[in-house]
Amino acid sequence: MKGRAFGHGRTYQAGGDLTVHEAAVFAPVGQVAAPPGTVNLPGPVGLFVGRADELAAVEAALETGGEVVVAAVHGLGGVGKSMLAAYYARARAGTCNPVWWITADSPTAVQAGLAALTGVLEPELATALPLEALADRAAGWLAAHEGWLLVLDDVADPADVAPLLGRTLTGRVLVTSRLGQGWHHLGARVLRLDVLEEVEAVDLLTRIAACGGQPTDMDGALELVGELGCLPLAVDQAGAYLGQTRLSPRAYLGLLRRQPAVMYDRTARGSDAERTIARLWRLTLDRLAGTPLAGHVLRILAWYGAEPIPRTLLDGLDAEPSEVQHALGELAAYNMITLDREHITVHRLVQAVARTPDPDDPHRRPADIDTARSQAADLLNDALPATHSDPADWPAWRTLLPHITALAEHTSPGADTTATARLLNQAGLFLNNQGAISRAIDYFERACVTYERVLGGDHPDTLMSRNNLASAYESAGDVGRAIPLYEATLADCERVLGGEHPDTLTSRNNLAYAYKSAGDLGRAIPLYERALADSERILGPDHPRTKAVRDHLAALE
Ligand SMILES: Nc1ncnc2c1ncn2[C@@H]1O[C@H](COP(=O)(O)OP(=O)(O)OP(=O)(O)O)[C@@H](O)[C@H]1O
Ligand SMILES: [Mg+2]
Repeated sequence: MKGRAFGHGRTYQAGGDLTVHEAAVFAPVGQVAAPPGTVNLPGPVGLFVGRADELAAVEAALETGGEVVVAAVHGLGGVGKSMLAAYYARARAGTCNPVWWITADSPTAVQAGLAALTGVLEPELATALPLEALADRAAGWLAAHEGWLLVLDDVADPADVAPLLGRTLTGRVLVTSRLGQGWHHLGARVLRLDVLEEVEAVDLLTRIAACGGQPTDMDGALELVGELGCLPLAVDQAGAYLGQTRLSPRAYLGLLRRQPAVMYDRTARGSDAERTIARLWRLTLDRLAGTPLAGHVLRILAWYGAEPIPRTLLDGLDAEPSEVQHALGELAAYNMITLDREHITVHRLVQAVARTPDPDDPHRRPADIDTARSQAADLLNDALPATHSDPADWPAWRTLLPHITALAEHTSPGADTTATARLLNQAGLFLNNQGAISRAIDYFERACVTYERVLGGDHPDTLMSRNNLASAYESAGDVGRAIPLYEATLADCERVLGGEHPDTLTSRNNLAYAYKSAGDLGRAIPLYERALADSERILGPDHPRTKAVRDHLAALE
């Protein structure tokens, strides 16, 4: 009978001259029982923290009864999706059988994982049937049985598992994926996994650091997990590094700030060198290759703060608005950003990596990162409120300020451009107005240095920023620094702009006010008289500034 097929008429070539006789080996899948304890989970779960609510949510999603139940856990790479799935699956090993784990990052991998299940359920078929048939048989088995749990880990595209889920299944399927879109078509309940709580992250860091068995100085643990944005993968790697090097979290933080490119690409011995923070999201960005604007937008957003970024900030981008929205949608679908109607939020480590140049990474070419930084500054400049003193503009200032601060912090002052200087100067005016004078002074000082370096000491913008700095010194009560700077600036204004230029008048008026604040009426009064005469002549006697000068002078006499 060799070479003949019965039943459904299928014959499989199993290699060499051997042809499998289907009727002889194909018991109906419904009659094939799973051996007790058919479990293939990837290693022990190890240290596991938090996630009580998330486990309850997975449980609730998979316990609703009915036919097949699918839960899809999605989230940023490294947030702990696989870990959660493994923990849940291990807990179900006593009540579900089989508990079968498939690394499902491609259609081929799904097929291989299913074939391996047949290999366990019907070992006699493993060498007799080709992979495709083994996989098909496993899918048939799952359709015919209840009480199993299948984990499809790291699915790249719902379409890769749709054919499997489309068969009438009667068990539970837990999917993990970086992609958050497209699952509802498959009838899945969708759960988004977020980063750990701060206390859980500190707990994880501390316990991993202590794994070496020696007591560890945990000074700075809270700051470190904050800098890592409580991303489990990053916390785990930092903890292992601390355990190996015996450094404190504060010392590690220092290294991280000094050499981000090196530290983000470093793992402790025994960790997966391919799963460093620097490499973690490269695959996701590769998948977004069809939308090049997505990478560009992410590099721009990387220069802002981890606080919500107004979506309107991107209105100034030189791209079709529909393309920009599409790029944002794609980034959000892969959990690289989160979107609500008005804001974009980016995880701080995604930002840190995206602005760390690496010539070997097509998504982080140094030139692209520089371009993105200058666009980030331009977009902020375009969005600045019209005034710093009108309370109606203050909410907008408060939204933009963290992003101006972040851009300044992440840029070395030597790389500041006039766009950065303008941002700092304008933010300084707002901060000065709000009474945050020492921050205002820092910003004005940095803006002055840049204007001088780029535009030269005589440029009107340089003179204006020196005037602002002097006035912030004065607000701080530091007339000792304010007066010489005002005097020098007034002299430069007269020389460069002329004695009657409005900026010169402002400068003279400011200096007169500073003399008055210092109690030096002998110098304040003549200067005010000069300022009043100039204002009356140039601006007119009824101009508000002329009136202000007149009032100041009257108060002195
Ligand atoms: N609840 C947790 N308790 C302890 N450690 C955790 C936890 N969650 C995640 N981790 C740590 O973070 C690492 C990354 O988690 P995991 O591999 O589950 O991320 P993922 O979201 O599946 O990432 P990817 O998208 O790359 O597959 C784990 O190897 C583990 O070290
Ligand atoms: Mg995973």
